[in-house]
Amino acid sequence: MSSDPDRNERMEKIVSLCKRRGFIFQSAEMYGGLNGCWDYGPLGAELKRNLKNYWWQKNVVERDDIVGLDGSILTHQEVLKASGHVGGFSDPMVDCRTCKARFRADQVAEQRCPEKPSRNPQENGCDLTEPREFDLMFKTSVGASSDEGAVAYLRPETAQSIFVQFKNVLETSRQKLPFGIAQIGKAFRNEINPRNFTFRSREFEQMEIEFFCRGEDGLRLTDEWLEARIAFYEQIGIPRDKLHVLDVPDGERAHYSSKTYDIEYDFPFGVQELEGVAYRTDYDLKKHGEASGKPIEYFDEATKEKLVPHVVEPSAGCDRTVLALICEAFDEESVTGDKGKEEARTVMRFDPKMAPVKCGVFPLLKNKPELVAKAKEVKALLAPLMNVFYDETGAVGRRYRRQDEIGTPFCATIDFDTVGENGPELEGTVTVRDRDSMAQERVKIAELPGYIAGKMA
Ligand code: GAP
Repeated sequence: MSSDPDRNERMEKIVSLCKRRGFIFQSAEMYGGLNGCWDYGPLGAELKRNLKNYWWQKNVVERDDIVGLDGSILTHQEVLKASGHVGGFSDPMVDCRTCKARFRADQVAEQRCPEKPSRNPQENGCDLTEPREFDLMFKTSVGASSDEGAVAYLRPETAQSIFVQFKNVLETSRQKLPFGIAQIGKAFRNEINPRNFTFRSREFEQMEIEFFCRGEDGLRLTDEWLEARIAFYEQIGIPRDKLHVLDVPDGERAHYSSKTYDIEYDFPFGVQELEGVAYRTDYDLKKHGEASGKPIEYFDEATKEKLVPHVVEPSAGCDRTVLALICEAFDEESVTGDKGKEEARTVMRFDPKMAPVKCGVFPLLKNKPELVAKAKEVKALLAPLMNVFYDETGAVGRRYRRQDEIGTPFCATIDFDTVGENGPELEGTVTVRDRDSMAQERVKIAELPGYIAGKMA
């Protein structure tokens, strides 16, 4: 929550739109909700998929030096003991003796007392306990046995399966240093205070790259990855001036890191982390080599030298980036409506690449079979190439507004000109209306796929 009422109001509107239009729902809402867990509705699922596909496309498909992995979520306890997570992955927690609420001790000022949500626990004079460590790991057991050997964990980061599969990937992909292994997947942390909508969740997705290199290149590559990752956010529609870089000071970095940059975004509730770009040195590969008794080494053919690679890790939060895309896209403006009256327009200004629906397809009138048939033809032409939404209900102006509110960048209307009722000149063309400028132009149906693809480049 921000101290600025306008920003809080903006965030409330965003959360409400996400539910109303089917982007994001509280998990198990009908049973009172599962705190810190979220379900993506039809539009949210598309948006998230667009983001993940674009990240994979840019970082794996289009690069020769990064390969993919899809590791298991259930993680062997020895992996997470060696990485330092078991027994070491915790946050300091305090309890209020009066209202029994729990808070993260290092973020008390930013949290709200449930008895008095306008104040933080200190302002409310809460009677707080001394801080104690709270384990963030989700523990489970595998198979029928419940003894210690059956213990496993839901992974707290996707990175660890990359480290423990390093040798297998190296041998099968024949990569040479420097090279990366990328993974998108779920991670789980039993956060003390999930908050700010999906920002801090207990189940979330990460998009991580472990970029292996020689030790002498680690710091330079960390700087290069920082720039590459900022450029990525700009490509998906987050402007540079809303991104901040925090050079995380000594004492505040994770135990494995000797240099970390946080890439932060200016959310309505404050400037907060989207991604960490960390130089993890050779910490993880060394630890797994030692704990398993199977050293993880790389043999350099050129120098005939064996070495433990170092690693630079750009680790992005998928859900946080989706939330940033939603916050950035949300806009309200006043426009002159069909009847010359001023009306409010809510518009999600997604970059067309990220937009859940790329094109709305409308017959001008639903009771004209020739228009409906042509509109369905246009839908069938576009549907194999992109997500389109066919809508024949209500006035065209209302249909535009509905698409504006979910961020559809283009709407194609099939009218009497399209079917040649007003002569041959405009036959076979549709009106394409642009979400942002609201300008309209005639485009030949056959050219429509290329027209839209061109705007998504
Ligand atoms: N492998 C490194 C790692 O996990 P991290 O900074 O703890 O580093 C990386 O997490 C990213 O994962 C964060 O920048 C954030 O975007 C996302 N993330 C972490 N905890 C999260 C949570 N509780 N809810 C949503 N996203 C989270």
